[in-house]
Amino acid sequence: MKIKIQDKIAWISINREEKLNALNISMLEEIRKNLIDIRGNKEIFVVVFLGSGDKAFIAGADISEFSKYGKNKGLELAKKGQENVLDLIENFPKPIIAGINGYALGGGLELAMACHLRVAVNTAKLGLPEVSLGLIPGYGGTQRLTKLVGKTNAIEMILSGEMIDSEKAYALRLVNKVVKRENLIDSISEIANKIMKNSPNAIAKAIEAINAAEKNPEGFEIEKEKFSECFESKDFKEGVSAFLDKRKPRF
Ligand code: COA
Repeated sequence: MKIKIQDKIAWISINREEKLNALNISMLEEIRKNLIDIRGNKEIFVVVFLGSGDKAFIAGADISEFSKYGKNKGLELAKKGQENVLDLIENFPKPIIAGINGYALGGGLELAMACHLRVAVNTAKLGLPEVSLGLIPGYGGTQRLTKLVGKTNAIEMILSGEMIDSEKAYALRLVNKVVKRENLIDSISEIANKIMKNSPNAIAKAIEAINAAEKNPEGFEIEKEKFSECFESKDFKEGVSAFLDKRKPRF
C-alpha cells in the first residue's frame, strides 16, 4: 500500500492493481500496522482509503490465497480481516472515508462499510458475491450491510450476489455521495475539511457513541462461525475452482 499525508489527511492507496487490489493477508497486516501508527500521529485528522488504478477500489479478499483453506484457517482469516482490520477501522478515533473508485466487492465492500463515510464514483459497482464462491461474507458484511441498508435490501444483495451501481447504492443509503471520477479527490477533501473544522476529541467521542447505537457482537460471532463452516463444503471447492478456472460454478 502507498500512503500520502497532505494537509492532515492520510491518503492510503491499496496497490495491487493487477489483481484489482484484492486483499491478501500481508495487505491486511500492513493496513493494521499503518492504522495503528496513524492513530498515534497527532498530525493526521482524517484517513482515506482508495484503490489503485481506474478499475477497482478492492475486488474482495484474495480468492487464490484462501482457495485451499479448511474451517480453522477460514476462521483465522475472518479474524484477520474483520477483527484485526475492519473492526479497527469502524472504531477508529479519526474519521475514515472510503473513496470507492471502482469495483467494491466482497471484502472490498466490507472494508468500505466499516469506514465512517463512503464516496463512490458514478461508474463504481458494489456487491457481496461470496455465495457465488460457496461462501458467505466473513469480514462483517452480513452485519454491516444489514445495518446500513436494512434486512430487505441486504437479503436481496447477499443472496443474489449481484452487483449494484452507485446510483442504486446511494438510493439505498449505502454510500453518502456519488461523484464523477474526476471529482473524487476534491469531493473527499471537501468532506474532510468540513470535519476538520471541528474538535478532534469530540469527533472521536461521537464515533464511539454512534457505533454504540448499533453494536451487536453476537451477530459478528455467528457470521464468523457460518463463514468458517462454508470452507468445509464441496460448494466452496467448486466455487473457488470455478473462479480460478474462469468458468461458471456448478452447484
Ligand atoms: N481475488 C484474487 N484475484 C482476483 C480477485 C480476487 N478477489 N478479483 C480479481 N482478481 C484477479 C483475477 O483473477 C485476474 O487475475 P489474472 O489476470 O492473473 O487472471 C485479475 O484480478 C483481473 O480480474 P479479471 O477477473 O480478469 O477482471 P474482469 O474485468 O474480467 O472482472 C471482476 C472483474 C471484479 C468482475 C472479477 O475479477 C471478479 O468477479 N472478481 C472476484 C470478485 C469476488 O468474488 N470477490 C469476493 C471475494 S471473497
